[in-house]
Amino acid sequence: MARKKVTVIGAGNVGASLVQRLAEMDMCDVVMVDIPQTGDMPAGKALDIMESGPICGYDSRVTGTTTYESTKDSDVVVITAGIPRKPGMSRDDLLNTNAGIVKAVTEQAVKFSPRCVLIIVSNPLDAMCSVALKTSQFPKHRVLGMAGVLDSARMRWFLAEALDVSMESVHAMVLGGHGDTMVPMPRFSTVNGIAVTELLPKEKIEAINQRTRDGGAEIIKLLKTGSAYYAPSAAAAEMVEAILKDKKKILPCAALLEGEYGIEGVFVGVPCKLGERGIEAVIQLNLTVEERAALLKSAGAVKELVGALK
Ligand code: APR
Repeated sequence: MARKKVTVIGAGNVGASLVQRLAEMDMCDVVMVDIPQTGDMPAGKALDIMESGPICGYDSRVTGTTTYESTKDSDVVVITAGIPRKPGMSRDDLLNTNAGIVKAVTEQAVKFSPRCVLIIVSNPLDAMCSVALKTSQFPKHRVLGMAGVLDSARMRWFLAEALDVSMESVHAMVLGGHGDTMVPMPRFSTVNGIAVTELLPKEKIEAINQRTRDGGAEIIKLLKTGSAYYAPSAAAAEMVEAILKDKKKILPCAALLEGEYGIEGVFVGVPCKLGERGIEAVIQLNLTVEERAALLKSAGAVKELVGALK
């Protein structure tokens, strides 16, 4: 049986970390693409990852390139190309630069892999999903964004730390856009089935919600030269695995909504079933009045940003 194939566009911090994770998961061959100005850098990183194979024990074939021919017939294409935030910048400050990049790489990617599932990682995430959907002309179930898995992983760690329990036992749900208006959902966040609202005082939960919303900025403040990549690459790898292995995992992803949650024509984070066809279902939760208002506000912020695209 031929191995599955994944293309990762952008061989920077997020892209190269994702390629390493995918290789170590030993479930696909990986092609890493960057711009011609990077010269042999993608090839160098790919060779370095291959040379780790004998020690780590994988047979994934990893290649690095600055052209798209070798990306042909990928099952999944992950777009991490673009500029990251610097301290003091919001994700929205990246809008038009990254929109141009995402448009250009989507055109190339879908030309060579017309049947792939596209996962967008570049920020501002939800607006970049719209750019990729429009450019690719793909059906909506084959274009999705990585944000909720990352935001909920951050929340899971903060909850596990506060409760002093295993992170494995903690699940969390974060809905909405991948920005300041994201909506952490403590009511749907649990420690092995026990809602965290039963286990932590209200003020502590609110503090964790806020730290989750500021999670990306907290890392940028520490790193100073760029934004997070270990957790973002882990989150993208989980989504790729769910698709390649047709796991039907329920994960929060940025999906184009057409009426679900009363939201129309905009990408926002909602719980999705991820399998080989991409988004196989959007799960609609019964929200309280407050939760619904917060989600609608977040969708409004995404809509406004998409409207500002040049
Ligand atoms: N085609 C391919 N690669 C590109 C293109 C393009 N048109 N334009 C830029 N790139 C590459 C850059 O050359 C660089 O190697 O994308 C890479 C980005 O890497 P980093 O600067 O290290 O940024 P990173 O931290 O990986 O973040 C990338 O993901 O999480 C988001 O907000 C983040 O939008 C940012 C993206």
